[in-house]
Amino acid sequence: MHEPVLAAEVISHLAAARGGLFVDCTLGAGGHTRALLEAGATRVLGIDRDLTALALARTALADRLTQVEFVHADYRSLGEVLDRHDVQAVDGGILADLGVSSMQLDDAARGFSFQTDAPLDMRMDQSSGLTAAELLQQVDESTLADVIYRFGEERFSRRIARGIVRARALGPLQTTAQLATLVRRAIPSRGWQRIDPATRTFQALRIWVNGELDGLEAFLRSAVARLQQGARLAVIAFHSLEDRVVKHTFRALAAETHPPVTVVTRRPIAAGDEEVASNPRARSAKLRVAERLA
Ligand SMILES: C[S@@+](CC[C@H](N)C(=O)[O-])C[C@H]1O[C@@H](n2cnc3c(N)ncnc32)[C@H](O)[C@@H]1O
Repeated sequence: MHEPVLAAEVISHLAAARGGLFVDCTLGAGGHTRALLEAGATRVLGIDRDLTALALARTALADRLTQVEFVHADYRSLGEVLDRHDVQAVDGGILADLGVSSMQLDDAARGFSFQTDAPLDMRMDQSSGLTAAELLQQVDESTLADVIYRFGEERFSRRIARGIVRARALGPLQTTAQLATLVRRAIPSRGWQRIDPATRTFQALRIWVNGELDGLEAFLRSAVARLQQGARLAVIAFHSLEDRVVKHTFRALAAETHPPVTVVTRRPIAAGDEEVASNPRARSAKLRVAERLA
């Protein structure tokens, strides 16, 4: 069973025991939604862009179907989703547990991982958009190098982009193993390394394919705009690029007068040693919380 990250902290910061409507913008396997309901939430609107995740969550929450609405949508259209469900203001709280789920990463067929050879897809929402293979076929070399540098913080981004562009001239890049081999060849060998050198490029391509940083600030602002007075927005980020956007947006919101917002977490909340030992994914998680004051 997939363990929701920082669940106890999310529950207490969102004060789920007060009841009310909560919006889980990243339903995934439904772990946080279950925790919210068990703590006292009355109803949860569960959003995910991945149809497979929604189907799994429906099964996992089979005993709670009267309290959960499953919504296939991108959380960046939160305002429209709330309008469609006749929700003016969210009185419970809003949660976003950003990024890909371990289910998506572990499902070899989705193409997120190079541990097993699979088609290079990487889309969280397989019902729309271009796959990583399709994007890699058409992108120009300098844009690709920028993507790998910016989203993967990879200093050999130019060499890797050149390697990809040369290889695709000989035939399309279609599998995760092909890409991982190319990346490893493009990077100078420095003996044993803690992580596979392909990791950073795979992270970069995943963020790019799914537009993970696009519209994050606008989403956070729209979430705060729909909170009722006293309700909170909790956001968990897993990489520094994302966490930086959350931190700066919260800070900017607190400095503006309308709507009045306070940042509840002066520093981000991280998982304790015990949680990291039982759920290694929690190691990089950072939780930040903001509250709507009026
Ligand atoms: C880290 S997982 C959430 C796990 C969940 N909290 C749980 O306890 O099972 C992130 C989920 O958010 C979804 N997701 C990522 N970006 C999204 C977006 N822009 N709109 C909607 N869902 C998104 C992914 O498909 C994935 O299922």
